[in-house]
Amino acid sequence: MFLKVKDLVFSYSSTRILDEVSLELEGSEILGILGPNGAGKSTLIRCINKILNPQSGIITFNDTNINTMTRMEIAKNLGYVPQTSTNPFPATVFDTILMGRRPHCGWRNSPGDIKKTLEILELVGIKDLAMRDFTELSGGQQQKVVLARALAQETDALLLDEPTSNLDVRQQLETMEIVRSLVHKNGISSIMAIHDLNLAARYADRILLMKNGSIFDVGDPFSVLTPENIREVYGVEAVIKDEDGRPYIVPKCPVKNCNECCQ
Ligand SMILES: Nc1ncnc2c1ncn2[C@@H]1O[C@H](COP(=O)(O)OP(=O)(O)O)[C@@H](O)[C@H]1O
Ligand SMILES: [Mg+2]
Repeated sequence: MFLKVKDLVFSYSSTRILDEVSLELEGSEILGILGPNGAGKSTLIRCINKILNPQSGIITFNDTNINTMTRMEIAKNLGYVPQTSTNPFPATVFDTILMGRRPHCGWRNSPGDIKKTLEILELVGIKDLAMRDFTELSGGQQQKVVLARALAQETDALLLDEPTSNLDVRQQLETMEIVRSLVHKNGISSIMAIHDLNLAARYADRILLMKNGSIFDVGDPFSVLTPENIREVYGVEAVIKDEDGRPYIVPKCPVKNCNECCQ
């Protein structure tokens, strides 16, 4: 198993945020992490990327405990896109993506790194932004650049924390297609926290559903995205349809006796 999380416990002071979370990531899959706001999705991803130090539990990457890995080794193996990203220094989009090559080339980049950066700009569809200042882009454009920087790292795993939250519907689909094709063609894996149930249902190979810092259910999209699970975790009634072999979730209005939109 190439990424393994065992009995992870994380607390902020006395508040337990992750309660004995365990998961295993197979090679070449998208594991969608779902759950309401505050369930612990970002905290889990940040522990896996060693930004946060859990109080107990073990995370191994290719059988190596990540506690023994340096920051640079982590960056060579795990690409990370945070939920919100800032770039404190003014830099062009091109240079921001080129920074993703740093774990491979140190401070001196080679023609190969420049070529890779150009390829990624093309792949993510942001060539026209290459010379723009990162700080002057829209939230959605910034989100694509940060994804591109993580792709430039050429890692075996991608940790993506709501990578489509600022994107319009077309860009959401394009981004998910890019991730899916990289995962399946290059045999890499992705853990992706995502809010949109239907986007997750359409693109994730497996779904991990979190509630209050624990894993509520994990498995293929049809087995996890059931009306019962959605009711228990989100407090919403939903009808699940079959859309080309993938679940399609139609949530019902949660307002009791609502006469506006519900019949
Ligand atoms: N820096 C922090 N200090 C204290 N509590 C925090 C901090 N960051 C997040 N939390 C709390 O941890 C819980 C889980 O947050 P998070 O992992 O961001 O949830 P999710 O990504 O699922 O919305 C929330 O209750 C949140 O308020
Ligand atoms: Mg989050």
